[in-house]
Amino acid sequence: MTKDFALVPLTEEMLPRVLELEKLCFSLPWSRDAFLPELTDPACCWLAALADGEVAGYAGMRTVLDEGYISNIAVSPAFRKRGFGMALVQALQREGEKRGLSFLTLEVRVGNREARRLYERAGFREVGLRPGYYEKPREDALLMTYDYPEGDKAV
Ligand SMILES: CC(C)(COP(=O)(O)OP(=O)(O)OC[C@H]1O[C@@H](n2cnc3c(N)ncnc32)[C@H](O)[C@@H]1OP(=O)(O)O)[C@@H](O)C(=O)NCCC(=O)NCCS
Repeated sequence: MTKDFALVPLTEEMLPRVLELEKLCFSLPWSRDAFLPELTDPACCWLAALADGEVAGYAGMRTVLDEGYISNIAVSPAFRKRGFGMALVQALQREGEKRGLSFLTLEVRVGNREARRLYERAGFREVGLRPGYYEKPREDALLMTYDYPEGDKAV
């Protein structure tokens, strides 16, 4: 982990860097128009991982009642394998706990081993498959879910 590491809310000023990382990390990157409304939507939570003041990664989720959906997570190739991905997932898990979620769920390409291992280590389990869900290239999506222990839920 870098000495100067911080998790902060993702802001509009960070979007140019985030959009660069989207293009580096995904074959179908999100646009500025897709991100912008999410940043101020109270049903969403977007976080940036800063390393020495630079956006090294980001992650976001959307909540519906007591359900949470991780929409996106990416770490710059230059900053991978230092624990940033795990820090981001765990921060969303803590935010979900504060919001009284019952579970957090997500889709991941079946061939995305790095991401699947990350989610498994964070306590997510495989719960289903969406055949042919992804394009560029066409690939199945694995559904993975993290269930909050009953005692964790806010009353
Ligand atoms: C998936 C992704 C977010 C993981 O990010 P990351 O920052 O590399 O994740 P972590 O550093 O927490 O963990 C990655 C690995 O590094 C290891 N690691 C963590 N800190 C380490 C350290 N200080 N020294 C050595 N290894 C370390 C972890 O144990 C883990 O190992 P494993 O893959 O063998 O289990 C990143 O690969 C990525 O952005 N991929 C492209 C976008 C993507 O696919 N997003 C998911 C969409 S569903």
